[in-house]
Amino acid sequence: MRTTVAVRNISKMLDHFSQYNPSPLSIKQFIDFGRNPCERTSFTFLRKELPVRLANIMKEIHLLPENLLRTPSANLVNQWYAQSFKDLLKFKDLEVSDKILTQYDTHSLFPIRVSLAMAFSRFCESLIMIRNRHSDTVQTMAQGVLELKENYPVDQQTENSIQYFLDRLYMSRISIRMLINQHTLLFGTDLNVTSNSRHVGSIDPNCDVVSIVRDAYENARFLCDQYYLASPELQLFEHNRNMPNAPIQVVYVPSHLYHMLFELFKNSMRAVMEFHGDKETVPPVVANISLGNEDVCIKVSDIGGGIARSQIELLFNYMYSTAPQPSKSASPTVPLAGYGYGLPLSRLYARYLQGDLVLQSCEGFGTDAVVYLKALSSEANELLPVFNKTSSRFYKTTIPAGDWSNNVRHMTTGTHHRLRQPQLS
Ligand SMILES: Nc1ncnc2c1ncn2[C@@H]1O[C@H](COP(=O)(O)OP(=O)(O)OP(=O)(O)O)[C@@H](O)[C@H]1O
Ligand SMILES: [Mg+2]
Repeated sequence: MRTTVAVRNISKMLDHFSQYNPSPLSIKQFIDFGRNPCERTSFTFLRKELPVRLANIMKEIHLLPENLLRTPSANLVNQWYAQSFKDLLKFKDLEVSDKILTQYDTHSLFPIRVSLAMAFSRFCESLIMIRNRHSDTVQTMAQGVLELKENYPVDQQTENSIQYFLDRLYMSRISIRMLINQHTLLFGTDLNVTSNSRHVGSIDPNCDVVSIVRDAYENARFLCDQYYLASPELQLFEHNRNMPNAPIQVVYVPSHLYHMLFELFKNSMRAVMEFHGDKETVPPVVANISLGNEDVCIKVSDIGGGIARSQIELLFNYMYSTAPQPSKSASPTVPLAGYGYGLPLSRLYARYLQGDLVLQSCEGFGTDAVVYLKALSSEANELLPVFNKTSSRFYKTTIPAGDWSNNVRHMTTGTHHRLRQPQLS
């Protein structure tokens, strides 16, 4: 009886919070707030914004095909979201006064009073618990998709809605982690991690793009050397339009930028080594980094043989890979490629703050991959999925018939499309 009431309450709360649109913040707002932080303001904002972001994506989880939701892995992800949503609801009705928080609990006769400091520290602990609970969401959800495909036929429409959903789930996750990280880094107990550096939470107001490019290159090269016993050199060029001799800096989350570049370098290195592996020397990978008035662009170019035009659309499909399946043996080495998550996740990181990741390739020659970032922090607004009629329709409608006549198979059913066991780090 109690559980039914609790479930009914949760579903009422889900309906309630999913009616709100998430409030996107710009990276400028994040650092302005972080430079003059107020724990109470952050607490008040997050105790509503986090349930809103969770509820928006949970509503979409509930629209997934039954067969997918019933897989053990997707079911687990669903439970994590429900638990985290419940954890946050505990803070919903706290009445905040100067030094005291009052909780009106329906099960007790008297309101419970706790000190602000105590309530804030419990809030921080809950956020950390939520972050840890969801640390394996990406691979667990991907595992759920594999479980579905192993047991049921999956038609093109289901495939499309899963792809649509995964982009939105992972984007929502990036944004929720960003909010949690900012709060726990600014107000949590591991303050000393940031106090000596220029970072504001996880953001570097003077993020040096060249040094992140070099870092990502070096680490990808390490993997490449392990796998192929050789690796392409890096040629790096900078183009700072307005101040040609100044370093190119941007207000950004360095870990996000590193993630994208590491994935691009791994891809380029693999392509170059596979294409020229039998030669004495291999052509370098070239990085062009430019800063204009609006954009920071990082173009990674390789002469790795390129990709056929018919395959380009597939590259951003989760689990599309042409690399050999990474071994599941006890080998402690990280594979250079093989899960098919590199490009789609990197593009989400770029798009999260209004940037993008674009690939252009000439088959038989090589590939250019460009990461675009907003140069102005006030324009780098979070891009967040919103649950509404348009999004829910996406899970139901059938694909409209095409209005062009041709003989060619649908582009998204390429012959090399292969599914991978997800084991992301
Ligand atoms: N620079 C490139 N040149 C040629 N092919 C590329 C290049 N970048 C990506 N690809 C193709 O796109 C596919 C998907 O890339 P993606 O990075 O998403 O996955 P992956 O590298 O196979 O695995 P991982 O998840 O480990 O990155 C690759 O398997 C490869 O076939
Ligand atoms: Mg890759």
